[in-house]
Amino acid sequence: MGRALVRALRAADHPTTVWNRTPGRDAEPLALGARPAATAAGAVADAPLVLLCVRDRTAARAVLDAAGEALRGRTVVNATSITPEDARADAVEAGARGYRILDAAILTPTPTIGGPGGTVLVSGDAAAFAEHEHTLRALGTVRHVGTDPGRAAAFDAALLDLFWTTVHGWVHALALARAEGISGAELAPYAQGLPRILPPLIDDFARRADEHRHPGDHSTLASAAAGLAHVAHTARSRGLDTSVLDAALALTRRAVDAGHGPDGVSALVERLSVR
Ligand SMILES: NC(=O)c1ccc[n+]([C@@H]2O[C@H](COP(=O)([O-])OP(=O)(O)OC[C@H]3O[C@@H](n4cnc5c(N)ncnc54)[C@H](OP(=O)(O)O)[C@@H]3O)[C@@H](O)[C@H]2O)c1
Repeated sequence: MGRALVRALRAADHPTTVWNRTPGRDAEPLALGARPAATAAGAVADAPLVLLCVRDRTAARAVLDAAGEALRGRTVVNATSITPEDARADAVEAGARGYRILDAAILTPTPTIGGPGGTVLVSGDAAAFAEHEHTLRALGTVRHVGTDPGRAAAFDAALLDLFWTTVHGWVHALALARAEGISGAELAPYAQGLPRILPPLIDDFARRADEHRHPGDHSTLASAAAGLAHVAHTARSRGLDTSVLDAALALTRRAVDAGHGPDGVSALVERLSVR
């Protein structure tokens, strides 16, 4: 991702200095006209805007610590995936150490970066964002989603929740189909129909969640419980792991037992808090 960010910045003609922990991995950035820095502090000292993108928070902390005093007065945009709590803690620490930090959640893969499909959410200090918005726009579609530093990471976590449960569903469906002698190639064209059903459902559920109203006018929790039970039974009878389906079924049955059987499936959003 670091290389993709540099490609986008250089394509927009922004002077860019690069540093990477392991030397020698910057051939492409340097060929694009980026300047090399020998240390993290050296890279930070070179510009008012510092874009940090490494594996995880531990790595990001290590780089920020190594940059040390050079960070004073700078604005760091941390494009490393971290949790909302960590983004908030990092903003507090940055304030104490004399620099500003914005958290950025990159929502799309490397090939999209630098084009309109590249989507980056940024949260934290609004003035710092306004100062550097022009540069950040080189990365793609960039939105400031709030002054709470954890907000970009919170959007990221919610969307990854959707992504991973969806990916798990597809993997499980492939295993179930295989157990019944259906190949991936046979199933795929029908699975491709699902994304066409989802957009209205996404908007409808989002509105219902915001209004805390879940009428069972299209489908009900009682019906969802029956459907899930049937799929879980089929998968189990074929010797497949059904732990995720069982968890979804248990949650749905609890809602039905609590009297929500006639409500719409979106009503589950009200029942997921375990506090
Ligand atoms: N790739 C994507 O499509 C994508 C999409 C959205 C968001 N993101 C996010 O962007 C971030 C980077 O993604 P990536 O795909 O580039 O991941 P990656 O390949 O795991 O990142 C490797 C980078 O992190 C550095 N690094 C790892 N540990 C370090 C440490 N302890 N100290 C200093 N540097 C360290 C590596 O340096 P060395 O070369 O020295 O190992 C390398 O520059 C992640 O937080 C990821 O979640 C990525």
